[in-house]
Amino acid sequence: MSFNAFRNPLRASVRRAAAQPARFQLRVNCNRKFSTPPPPPAPEAKASSNAGLYIGLGAVVAGGLGYYLYSSNDAVNALKSGAQVAKVKTNTAPTKEDYIKVYNRIAELIDDAGEYDDGSYGPVILRLAWHSSGTYDKDSKTGGSNYATMRFNPESKHGANAGLNIARDLMEKVKEEFPWISYGDLWTLGGVAAIQEMAGPKVPWRPGRVDGVEAQATPDGRLPDATQGADHLRNIFGRMGFNDQEIVALSGAHALGRCHRDRSGFEGPWSFAPTTVTNDYFRLLFDEKWVWKRWEGPKQLEDKKTRSLMMLPTDYVLVQDKSFKKFAKQYADSQDLWFKDFSKAVATLFELGVPTEQFVTPEPWTIPTVDEQKEEKKD
Ligand code: HEM
Repeated sequence: MSFNAFRNPLRASVRRAAAQPARFQLRVNCNRKFSTPPPPPAPEAKASSNAGLYIGLGAVVAGGLGYYLYSSNDAVNALKSGAQVAKVKTNTAPTKEDYIKVYNRIAELIDDAGEYDDGSYGPVILRLAWHSSGTYDKDSKTGGSNYATMRFNPESKHGANAGLNIARDLMEKVKEEFPWISYGDLWTLGGVAAIQEMAGPKVPWRPGRVDGVEAQATPDGRLPDATQGADHLRNIFGRMGFNDQEIVALSGAHALGRCHRDRSGFEGPWSFAPTTVTNDYFRLLFDEKWVWKRWEGPKQLEDKKTRSLMMLPTDYVLVQDKSFKKFAKQYADSQDLWFKDFSKAVATLFELGVPTEQFVTPEPWTIPTVDEQKEEKKD
């Protein structure tokens, strides 16, 4: 990525601002001098393009400044001069290589899980990326991965997000080492690293998310409720803009990780290899006989043979609903097809709620896995 790339969102925003009335232009100029961004839109209100712009612009500038402060010893001197401040915005943008360093640090943390769960933080990190993106509402254009509002109360305390403090704390360690990255970029890059490092497909990704403020946190109830059926899935994922095929493709992520009694109330893993991305979730849905678990907990299914695997009611719906079942069968029959569709749907998921002009590059990057980077170095 060239240095110019980081300037693009700013330029796009300023271009849009040029078409605004004088009062607004004044605000833009203020932001360019690093004043506090004006207050954000109310969470559920239709996003006003100006308000979004103020925050986006302020945060992009703040991000650039943060990076500058991080990477330059002369930062304080630079701030004394307007001319040098211009330099902040133009010459110090993080490069693709900088983001690869962040990716590699996340990859290290994923593996450094000791006795935690199945020996990997990958699944919970992926879940953080998904829950921070899956709040998107295409009609009001609120929610999504842009502002990383799960950092704030009450979103961090929403029932659906129980346990994600573990992933957020891990990501905080990375943020301390790379303070210039926005939380939204960090968390979604974490999701990409989790999928790729657990042997999944490449997920194209690009930076550009900005840190939002508490008032932008999304209301409870936007994420799926595992006790529900097909209509609920279509409502929730339809609100994000996804169709049946994409709902099924995304659900295949449940090959990974497990349910925790103290987080969701459900218990157990979906597959025998919960730290490797495979199409086993779909194969098991068709190949095993699933029976309702007899226990004191919420309604979930278990495989009749070993009673060690589980399915949520929303997982089982994928083989009950005719339209969902058609796609689930295709993915059970072809891991290649699922990898292709999963990668595409996840890349879309992670960009929900991010205005296109905020991205620093028109084409998402493909980041090599840590192993591939090692191979490249050898050659
Ligand atoms: C289809 C609707 C979905 C429902 C109802 C659902 C529900 C759940 C529930 C109840 C858990 C267990 C949480 C816990 O107790 O720790 C879970 C875990 C998980 N979910 Fe989903 N989920 C859905 C879709 C997705 C999607 C789209 C993804 C990613 C693309 C995903 C990725 C994960 C992962 C990786 C875990 C394991 C987390 C861990 O091991 O800590 N889920 N999900």
